[in-house]
Amino acid sequence: MTPKPHDATTRVDVALGGERAYPVLLTDELPGEPVAAELARAVPRARRVLVVTDDHVAPLYADAVVAAIAATGREATALTLPHGEETKALGTIGEVVDAALARGILRGDALVALGGGVVGDITGFAAAILHRGVAFVQAPTTLLAQVDSSVGGKTGVNHATGKNLIGAFWQPRAVVASSRVLGTLPAREVRCGLAEALKHAFLEGEEAVRWCRDRVAALTTLEGDATRALVARCVRYKAAVVAADERDHGVRATLNLGHTFGHAFELLLGYGALTHGEAVALGLVLAARLSERLGVAAPGLEELVVDTLRAFGLPHDPDAADLPALPALIDAARGDKKAEGDGVAFILLHAPGRPEVKQLDFARIAALLGG
Ligand code: NAD
Ligand code: GLY
Repeated sequence: MTPKPHDATTRVDVALGGERAYPVLLTDELPGEPVAAELARAVPRARRVLVVTDDHVAPLYADAVVAAIAATGREATALTLPHGEETKALGTIGEVVDAALARGILRGDALVALGGGVVGDITGFAAAILHRGVAFVQAPTTLLAQVDSSVGGKTGVNHATGKNLIGAFWQPRAVVASSRVLGTLPAREVRCGLAEALKHAFLEGEEAVRWCRDRVAALTTLEGDATRALVARCVRYKAAVVAADERDHGVRATLNLGHTFGHAFELLLGYGALTHGEAVALGLVLAARLSERLGVAAPGLEELVVDTLRAFGLPHDPDAADLPALPALIDAARGDKKAEGDGVAFILLHAPGRPEVKQLDFARIAALLGG
């Protein structure tokens, strides 16, 4: 049975060319029917579907998604992983692949990622390697996954020595983001998503930063119109960057603003101590500070970043006594994906809307930030 098309409030296309283009659909419905309908449209030949989720999301939404897919005549089952960043490890990929093969998933079948960025990154990577690539659909349930990680096809897992060191580019066939599921997100996870959204705003430009700052109360309480507009805005921005540089050889690197030190904070504190967004927030402050000290940004950029993060209740003091000190951060950053030899491709900001990727030696970064 082909389900009737659902009403998306917004559709953004990720224009990768030809059959590889895919839609990001924002809907106010719960994910069940929209995901089932989109799966039927995007992967019509799939007979079996494995819905990968985590143990926070499963009791809330997985049964409805599995039932809606089954109602389209497909065999659907769920695999529930433990929640949290620790799950984003190579061993979990083996578990997902084992489950998919045990349930008879063949090359023409599909996976669905129902969860936050952790589930999305894991499921996408498992889909990339299973049968040398099966289709998958992203059904992001966190604000972070809706504004960022579900779009663009970066998939993968962490290694003990660093974040996202193992992975693949593997684009979803569709992304279906339900605003309704954000209602069950803990407040801290909402702020985590807002940190990535603010990163986008600083990349997009002054107007975007102002737009966010004018809506602090509405965005932190997930007021409907403001949140819908924020997700749409971030998805449009990211879709354009990904369309321009899918494989991260140029402009896409700028999406890593705040991530060199963000990943270092996560690694040093242990995954889970800070959310990914909180770590990125601290990384944004250090990126702004470094930009000022190099003289590429006018004085005041760091203050603007700090002020904005503070307004959203996000960490904004990378010098706090309970955080790792600069030498440890620099050491950790040496393991970053963007590190090369004694340096790193660092994302600087001349001003909101004017990022630059610059190769910098760690010694220079240490000297500039140490003073
Ligand atoms: P997450 O997936 O760990 O989700 C955060 C928490 O919220 C988890 O405990 C989860 O169980 C819970 N949760 C999810 N949806 C819920 C809901 N609707 N209601 C209640 N609880 C819910 O974390 P995240 O912040 O979504 O994602 C972070 C990950 O995303 C990191 O691993 C990061 O590296 C990755 N990431 C990837 C990309 C990319 O381009 N692939 C971009 C940014 C971040
Ligand atoms: N989150 C960085 C990227 O998608 O390139």
